[in-house]
Amino acid sequence: MAIAVVIVLLVIGSVVFHFVSPWWFTEIASHWTNIDFTINLTFWVTGFVFVAVNLFLAYSVYRFRQRKGEASKAVYEPENARLETGLTVLTTLGVAAMLAPGLFVWAQFVTVPDEALEFEAFGSQWQWAFRYPGDDGVLGTADIQYITETNPWGINPDDPNGQDDRVIKKPFMMLPVDQPAKVLLRSRDVLHNYTVPQFRVKMDMVPGMVSYMWLTPTRTGVFDILCEQYCGIGHHIMRARIEVAEEDEFQAWLQSQPTFAETQAQPDADLNAGRQAYVVCASCHGQQGEGNRAMNAPKLAGLQPWYIDRQLRYYQTGVRGAHEDDAFGRMMAPMANTVASPDARANVSAYIASLADTPAAITLAEGDPARGMRIYKANCASCHGDDAKGSWATDAPALAGMDDWYMAIQLQHYRDGIRGDHRDDDYGYQMTSMVKAMRTQQQQNDVISYINTLR
Ligand code: CUA
Repeated sequence: MAIAVVIVLLVIGSVVFHFVSPWWFTEIASHWTNIDFTINLTFWVTGFVFVAVNLFLAYSVYRFRQRKGEASKAVYEPENARLETGLTVLTTLGVAAMLAPGLFVWAQFVTVPDEALEFEAFGSQWQWAFRYPGDDGVLGTADIQYITETNPWGINPDDPNGQDDRVIKKPFMMLPVDQPAKVLLRSRDVLHNYTVPQFRVKMDMVPGMVSYMWLTPTRTGVFDILCEQYCGIGHHIMRARIEVAEEDEFQAWLQSQPTFAETQAQPDADLNAGRQAYVVCASCHGQQGEGNRAMNAPKLAGLQPWYIDRQLRYYQTGVRGAHEDDAFGRMMAPMANTVASPDARANVSAYIASLADTPAAITLAEGDPARGMRIYKANCASCHGDDAKGSWATDAPALAGMDDWYMAIQLQHYRDGIRGDHRDDDYGYQMTSMVKAMRTQQQQNDVISYINTLR
């Protein structure tokens, strides 16, 4: 009796939870209402079977319980043609109801309208990059063999169709509302996946091939792009944002993105101009970019030029140095504006990167390098490298030989939300997540003391 009641309560509880649960569909933002319909149909079919089978179970437990004075042996009845026919028909109908609508939706899913705008999403461990066709409306061919530091999309440099492609090397893209869009998907390394929950679509990105899908965004807004294939340690932080906007807003944004040809035609940095601009920086960071702890100015020599450039841009745009608890960052922000133009930034970044790199003095006394090594290898090495020299391929700066006191402050800033929380800090949220995987400040110090052994 008690068991029958428990089963009934479980059924009621499950059904009630299903309807009042906070984990429900996000509000849809594409035309794929058919996909919601098929999912809901599956819920109804499986829900009906769940309720019916379990209530029958409860009924049987109660109805056929052992009673005092009765024989306790069950009746063996292996054949019942009527029952078997009924169950077979019912099961067939249920399975067909779940599968058949999916076939119709799938046929729509793989039939892309001719007028669809095309774009490409390119996944790698653990970054996103995007590409749109230029004025010719055709995407150039691409292959991972063409990938270099300046061509992270792997666009074929000899294909004239690719020269005017608009390229984006950050985790952000846009689409116009109410216009069908075909999504072409490529991967640099392992299986990734392009998912926007509000669009109700997802598709794997498979190394060596181009997969695709399509959708029509039906409302404006900003949504998360998620990777939904487990692709390594950074899988959970492989995110981007997509903004759906009105056509003119989308076009204005698209036209402001560089073409592939423009990214390849960057003039060599002017080291002389960079040296002159650096005079301002040298008063705190030192003539050789060696850093000056007394001024709270970290060592710069040894950092990669693209990293310096990115941080300067962050200071200029308020991504860094705007938080009220970031006293030194707020001192740096106005200084960054002395190299405000992209050219000036590139020149001073190249000059700093050309300075002789002498490892910084070790100042951090606490910390166990052996424990730190385990954490570093598990959490940090995938992006910053086993040698902690960093890599453009993962957008990770060099750490080995840099100021340990500065790294300690920055790790703490990531943990406290002083750095990395700004929505335009493209990779800061990744660092925040990895720092929080270290449970204590002691572990942060252990990691830095291990990095100190890599100089
Ligand atoms: Cu990429 Cu998970």
